[in-house]
Amino acid sequence: MAPKIISISLVGSLLVSAASSTRFGGSVEPLGLFKRISSSCSSTGQTSCHNTTVQNTCCFESPGGLLLQTQFWDTDPSTGPTDSWTIHGLWPDNCDGTFTEDCDPSRAYTDISGLLTNAGATDTLSFMEENWVDINGNDETFWEHEWSTHGTCMSTLVPDCLADYSTGEEAVAFFETVVGLFKTLPTFTWLSNQGITPSTGKTYTYTELTNALQAESGVVPALNCDGDTLDEIYWYFNLKGSVIDGTFEPIDAPSKGSCPSSKISYPPKSGSTSTTTTSATTTPTSTGGLPAKATITALSSTGSSAGGLLSAGTWSVQTLATYTMSGDVSGFTMKSSKGSCGVSDEMFSCGGDVVGSTFSAISSGGNLLLAFSGSASFTSGSTPSGEAQETVFTGSGRGQDFTLVISST
Ligand SMILES: *[C@@H]1O[C@H](CO)[C@@H](O)[C@H](O)[C@H]1NC(C)=O
Repeated sequence: MAPKIISISLVGSLLVSAASSTRFGGSVEPLGLFKRISSSCSSTGQTSCHNTTVQNTCCFESPGGLLLQTQFWDTDPSTGPTDSWTIHGLWPDNCDGTFTEDCDPSRAYTDISGLLTNAGATDTLSFMEENWVDINGNDETFWEHEWSTHGTCMSTLVPDCLADYSTGEEAVAFFETVVGLFKTLPTFTWLSNQGITPSTGKTYTYTELTNALQAESGVVPALNCDGDTLDEIYWYFNLKGSVIDGTFEPIDAPSKGSCPSSKISYPPKSGSTSTTTTSATTTPTSTGGLPAKATITALSSTGSSAGGLLSAGTWSVQTLATYTMSGDVSGFTMKSSKGSCGVSDEMFSCGGDVVGSTFSAISSGGNLLLAFSGSASFTSGSTPSGEAQETVFTGSGRGQDFTLVISST
């Protein structure tokens, strides 16, 4: 496949109207945890590409009001997690599908890693290192390209729009927004929930794939192929307010992607142990594969298993707690004897004062893995031993990365 720096021209039909009801809850406000600068714009004003009066482009994305969150499924060579698509970018297409690129060379920043680190956005950077990866390993160049090519064309990120502007902060906001939005679009999990997992033999029609994704997300994405191999997805949005902290409204793709209408293959990434046959042999099931009561064990990234979760949600090698699950693999809540389990500021915990989160479960290598926001990656400072309890965080890079295996009790 070509390097990831190619924008595919989106010529085609005009916009469709915004999807009326979706499982995004109608719209996406992904930015609470990631927002470090504020636009001071309302996020409830007119919707991009649907305005009826002239708008201030500092607070209204124009002309690029058709936003595409683009993702890769790279298998040749494979990049990123075996159970997740990876980020390509966020592109501001014009409302008719044409687009401009490289709008402000004076803001074509280099050293995106340094920019994010200096801004304190290290969580975003770590997430990018795992999930926004270049097929040739040139992640930094890829990020610089995505920013300069597409980010500099966003009207709501123009420095003159920002109070107390310091150089580069609009690019930091761009990366935080893209990561936040990507986390709301777990393409792998959505396909998997609908019984579509990577395999070497099976093929699908375009409609089977988009129907599955529409059933999960509420909207129809566009699918791109390399020949007849699925390798890219475009999720479309309009926006209320600024790219920094506005409300992304999911919409149906205005045109079909490049995949053929049938015989589309969705191959596994190398290193993936997940196949259609192993997922059929997982643990005893109650509701759609999810046990009603389970223990949760930790499986480190090297494949060794050490302990699991106690009732407070900490990781330890002591006797494991029993968790009660309600829902199904595509969405469930979880409780221990201490109370509801939830994730707040990336920290997983269970207790009487914890606000419960919705989790999902992913079949992988014969295991059922706990996932949050579509990702099965968890991380702690180190592997516990003896009486020690480690705090569990979502994501990766805190010292010891692991997955959490749900086993029926
Ligand atoms: C929508 O807002 C943009 C940006 O201000 C403006 O160029 C365009 O004319 C507006 N459309 C309508 C129908 O007012």
